[in-house]
Amino acid sequence: MQKILITGGTGFIGSHTAVELIAAGYECLILDNFVNSHPAVVNRIAQITGKTPLVIEGDVCDAVGLDTLFATHTISAVIHFAGLKAVGESVREPLRYYANNVNGTMTLLLAMMKANVKTIVFSSSATVYGEPDSSPIPESAPYRAASPYGRSKAMVESMLTDLTLSDPAWRVALLRYFNPVGAHPSGTMGEDPTGTPNNLMPFVCQVASGRLPMLSIFGHDYATADGTGERDYIHVMDLSEGHLAALRYLARDDAAPLLIANLGTSRSHSVLDVVTTFSRVNDLPIPYQFVARRPGDVSAYWADASYAEHTLGWKATRSLEDMCRDSWNWQKQNPQGYRN
Ligand code: NAD
Ligand code: UD1
Repeated sequence: MQKILITGGTGFIGSHTAVELIAAGYECLILDNFVNSHPAVVNRIAQITGKTPLVIEGDVCDAVGLDTLFATHTISAVIHFAGLKAVGESVREPLRYYANNVNGTMTLLLAMMKANVKTIVFSSSATVYGEPDSSPIPESAPYRAASPYGRSKAMVESMLTDLTLSDPAWRVALLRYFNPVGAHPSGTMGEDPTGTPNNLMPFVCQVASGRLPMLSIFGHDYATADGTGERDYIHVMDLSEGHLAALRYLARDDAAPLLIANLGTSRSHSVLDVVTTFSRVNDLPIPYQFVARRPGDVSAYWADASYAEHTLGWKATRSLEDMCRDSWNWQKQNPQGYRN
């Protein structure tokens, strides 16, 4: 049985991916410092899969801890989710972001190199494209990240690209996620943001539950069909399956050393689409008001995800209805997230 190291494996996307991997017969070792997650997620993974993953509380910036980990466990590949991800916070605390996201990845790669583990799937983001010239966005679009967070992702992408050029034994997948939402269909696991959510779907869920009084829709004068911003929302279960597909691809004899793939649906939905779909499928009112645009927001963008389909044989299959239903199912069963 292959053992996969999942850094950040108790976070939103990491926990769902751990479930997919366990179901596919992999053994998972999670490394997380719980800076943005709750240890209770481990029991939820066990509840769903019937298997408790190994969990090490530790930091990807801790070189000694990583050396010990690789000396103790035979790891086949790493999926590297660990990172900080709040755009606004990254503007206020850029060094914290570069230290955690860039230096953390460098420390991890040095430890992997020492241990001769040379396969890694990296969580990148559509944020590396910034404001693109047009949508759908192909992987060849230029780097135009507009925040320290986005630039930390672009820097890591460059670092990993250089590594594959220096040593062809490396197998690297850079996965650029669009807007991950949704939850495990059982309602056992989901997104659990701390404080008031910044992102749309968790905010809508908290309005639906009565925890927040009303959604503010940022801007209704964009050049989109209904004037509100459009994004490529992707179900977290589709995203998790994308990681499994990438891992399988990198294990192939004919795998290229470097794979760069958008993970999205190739479709966009407006803020009003999300609100009306959420209301309809869950039979709940979502009070909202239109307010000014949020600084830094792009009007509309979505993925060209055809390369992932062609190379990985992976395609997102879940609809906006599924995303809204599963998000609410999680929220309603866990009104306080994992802190219940
Ligand atoms: P998350 O915050 O839920 O998960 C990240 C996990 O990493 C958390 O459990 C956190 O405790 C852990 N972590 C952070 N720094 C660490 C460190 N130094 N050492 C060990 N553990 C550490 O975020 P997520 O939404 O699951 O995102 C996972 C990855 O995907 C991140 O790298 C993020 O930047 C990237 N990403 C996320 C989105 C999104 O919208 N959620 C979009 C694009 C890319
Ligand atoms: C943000 C991040 C991006 C990250 C992504 C994760 C920025 C600039 N970008 O993208 O790096 O990968 O989250 O999913 O922060 N909206 C409202 N009201 C709200 C919240 C959001 O109207 O209360 C609107 C936004 O204006 C946008 C859409 O909903 O049009 C989606 O917003 P959000 O979920 O925050 O994601 P992004 O801004 O696309």
